[in-house]
Amino acid sequence: MNKLTRRPCVAGNWKMQGSYSMIETLLGELHQQEQYLQGIDVILCPPFVYLERVAKMLQRQESTFLLGAQNTYCEEKGAYTGEVSAAMLKDVGCQYVIIGHSERRQLFAESDELIARKFRAAYHAGLTPILCLGETQAERVSGQTFAVIRRQLDSVLEVAELNCFNRAMIAYEPVWAIGTGLTATPEQANEVHTTLRGWIAESDPKIASGVRILYGGSVKASNAKELFCEPNVDGGLIGGASLEGQAFLSICHSATYDT
Ligand code: 13P
Repeated sequence: MNKLTRRPCVAGNWKMQGSYSMIETLLGELHQQEQYLQGIDVILCPPFVYLERVAKMLQRQESTFLLGAQNTYCEEKGAYTGEVSAAMLKDVGCQYVIIGHSERRQLFAESDELIARKFRAAYHAGLTPILCLGETQAERVSGQTFAVIRRQLDSVLEVAELNCFNRAMIAYEPVWAIGTGLTATPEQANEVHTTLRGWIAESDPKIASGVRILYGGSVKASNAKELFCEPNVDGGLIGGASLEGQAFLSICHSATYDT
């Protein structure tokens, strides 16, 4: 299986941004040009409280866009005030969930172990986890990029079966590129993606060749195409630019094979 057999994917991570009126405007704008986006999975990841609204609006538009959450908890239910389970996310229409975003790791002190348990819970609830990995600036300059990413991947594989990656996706998001305007070069991104795929191939070449690996970190309309052309980059996880209709559409279009 090579790049052409992996379906490209672009996911918009809205982070803690959005409102009812913003959703009306953004989804209206996206819907107008959705017909030109063929052969690609487009996932919208709004904050928890807007998931149901976005799900209903996508349904009304008969949209092919998919719905994802930005986080979940590792337990099925119980006394975990403020948390949301993977089954609840499914219940409101989510198919995807971002797990282990660097903002969760850094600002909310999520450990590798917690992230691994969230990943497993999401997978077993029937969601497709999008596992985020990435090194900080200090880790990159001190030559630890691959050690850090390996540790982040291995901690998930200790808790969840490798088979999960028949469905789950990976997003390589170098922390130094998130929201900074500094994008990894296509070569830097592809180098990490190729290494990740290689590690998985050591255990299961078939899973490795099928798993979709997205790049995230200051992806814009102007740099998306060159990143997505790389042989092991299967699309993107987009922050800021996913809030602007035209920019997001242009990024999605860059991931299709008819550009
Ligand atoms: P930006 O695209 O705003 O850099 O954010 C990337 C990101 O964190 C997506 O999850």
